[in-house]
Amino acid sequence: MSINTDSEQKAARVMNEDYNNTVTGWVHESIAATLDDLASCVTKYHEVNPQRFEEGPNSQPFVIADFGCATGASSIVPLRALIQAVRKIAPSLTIQIYLEDLPENRFDIAFQAVSKGLEEFDNLFIMAAGKDFTV
Ligand SMILES: C[S@@+](CC[C@H](N)C(=O)[O-])C[C@H]1O[C@@H](n2cnc3c(N)ncnc32)[C@H](O)[C@@H]1O
Repeated sequence: MSINTDSEQKAARVMNEDYNNTVTGWVHESIAATLDDLASCVTKYHEVNPQRFEEGPNSQPFVIADFGCATGASSIVPLRALIQAVRKIAPSLTIQIYLEDLPENRFDIAFQAVSKGLEEFDNLFIMAAGKDFTV
C-alpha cells in the first residue's frame, strides 16, 4: 500500500479507526501492570497536597490527561483506576479528562468509547485536545 496524498499522510500518523477492535494481548497486560502505580500516584499526590482534593464551592476539578489516547478503548481501565482512587479520597470532586492525540486522530470514536466505558461515574467531564505533544 502506498501513501500519496496529504490526507493519507496525516491519517497514517494515527491509529487506524479499527484500533479499538484490534487492540489485544500485550497492551492489556502492560496496562494491568501499571494500575497499582496509578492508584498510588493519586495517594501520594494527596499526601503531599491534601488541599488539592478538598471538596466544596471553591474546589478545583481534578484533571487527568491521557496522552496518545488513540480511539480510546485501552484508556478505559487505567482511567477507571485513577477515578476510583480520586473518588476514594474525594467522593464528589469534579473530574475532567483530556483525551489527547494528534489532530487527525478519530476523537469521535475516542469520545464514544471512553464515555461508554466510564458511564457509571457522575460528575465527570471528558474533553479532547488535538495537538502534537512534542511541540
Ligand atoms: C501506540 S498508540 C497507543 C494508543 C493507546 N494509548 C494504547 O495504549 O493502546 C500511540 C498513540 O500516540 C499518538 N501519538 C504519537 N505521537 C504523538 C504526538 N507527537 N502527539 C500526540 N499524539 C501522538 C498516536 O497518534 C497514537 O494514537
